[in-house]
Amino acid sequence: MSNIKVMTIFGTRPEAIKMAPLALELSCRPGLEALCCVTAQHREMLDSVLHIFGLKPDFDLNIMQPRQTLSSITSKCLLGVEEVLEQARPDLVLVHGDTSTTFAGALAAFYQKIPVGHVEAGLRTYDKWSPFPEEMNRKMVGAIADLHFCPTVTNRDNLARENIAKGVFLTGNTVIDALRTTVVKDFTFSEKVLNEIDYVNRKVVLVTCHRRENYGQPMAHIMNALRRIADAFPETELVYPVHLSPVVQEAAHQYLDGHPRIHLIAPLAVDEMHNLMARCYLVMTDSGGLQEEAPALGKPVLVLRRETERPEAVRAGTVKLAGVEEEPIFLLASRLLSDQSAYDQMAHAVNPYGDGRACQRIADAIEWHFGLRSQPPEPFDGGTAREL
Ligand code: UD1
Ligand code: UDP
Repeated sequence: MSNIKVMTIFGTRPEAIKMAPLALELSCRPGLEALCCVTAQHREMLDSVLHIFGLKPDFDLNIMQPRQTLSSITSKCLLGVEEVLEQARPDLVLVHGDTSTTFAGALAAFYQKIPVGHVEAGLRTYDKWSPFPEEMNRKMVGAIADLHFCPTVTNRDNLARENIAKGVFLTGNTVIDALRTTVVKDFTFSEKVLNEIDYVNRKVVLVTCHRRENYGQPMAHIMNALRRIADAFPETELVYPVHLSPVVQEAAHQYLDGHPRIHLIAPLAVDEMHNLMARCYLVMTDSGGLQEEAPALGKPVLVLRRETERPEAVRAGTVKLAGVEEEPIFLLASRLLSDQSAYDQMAHAVNPYGDGRACQRIADAIEWHFGLRSQPPEPFDGGTAREL
């Protein structure tokens, strides 16, 4: 019997971070032929991840344009992936999460009647405008997919409410697998300022903010709150690796330039990011991935959004929804910077999102699906408070 061809398709930084360890795991399985197609919806930020994981894609659609629109990404991905699928004829396509690449990749596979596996399935806010357009992307992929790899029980329950129960596996999130390979005790940063900061005596606030629904007024509020935090707490150093989106670059520089303790730096390579997170005091972010990584590293997170599809760490007490208004964001951060017991209550390591074995479970489930293994994988046990 010839090998089962499994093609991973991804295009942005977070998809790459969460799919690279899986692509590498699949390539070690003797019964499988692992193929990798990148749309390059992101270019530099994707290439940085590919480089860190030593992953060489078999196909690269190279679609990124400055200030690209959702329709242009989706249509270019759809046409590009169609050609790749016609050429490679995989037995299974794997997409990740909720980006435009994810949706278009799944749709292209569906049009050619190729089964689809959805990695990071079942996350929901139930608000189609937030996150935009991600909530609809993941719902539409959920409707197309044949295999659903859910990080958590909450995600599995969300799918069950949509009558999706077949082909569902509880695996944990592959981001925790990635995190296991990157964080080390002695790490030298390539960014000079990150080596100069005194992480013991200063309070380093790690910031990221990039979501489309935060463009405009919400981002202005967030940036104003960040500047006030830096002004009010002289012991802080704010480090903000700014996403390459021109909209985000403009907002960050407009509101935060010229402050001696606010460091606007280029996007970090993933190992740099994880090691900075491991050394910081507090994380303030609208990112999905950071909400999963920081709790595993015992760092409190203030989420700069109105909602989250990741309620597990909120329940565990290490993540708080701060919203997108200046005053509440400022007040919540002020409390964590001035009240040690409030800080201590949030700063404990929890791993509701994974145990570092998600890729193994997903590869096992695929082998089982294709009859290469007699048993499905044991489900992820839901996470514990143990350190990574
Ligand atoms: C995309 C995803 C979002 C995810 C985010 C991760 C969609 C609709 N959105 O949003 O879910 O959270 O990625 O970061 O799929 N750019 C560069 N170089 C890069 C990457 C981006 O210059 O390496 C610039 C380009 O001008 C590009 C712009 O950023 O047009 C926006 O990129 P895009 O992928 O459209 O949106 P994101 O906000 O990154
Ligand atoms: N990340 C990174 N460098 C940065 C910012 C983020 O490597 O400068 C990583 C981060 O650790 C996480 C992922 O990128 O693994 C999250 O990506 P992003 O915030 O762009 O997207 P989201 O998770 O919100 O979709």
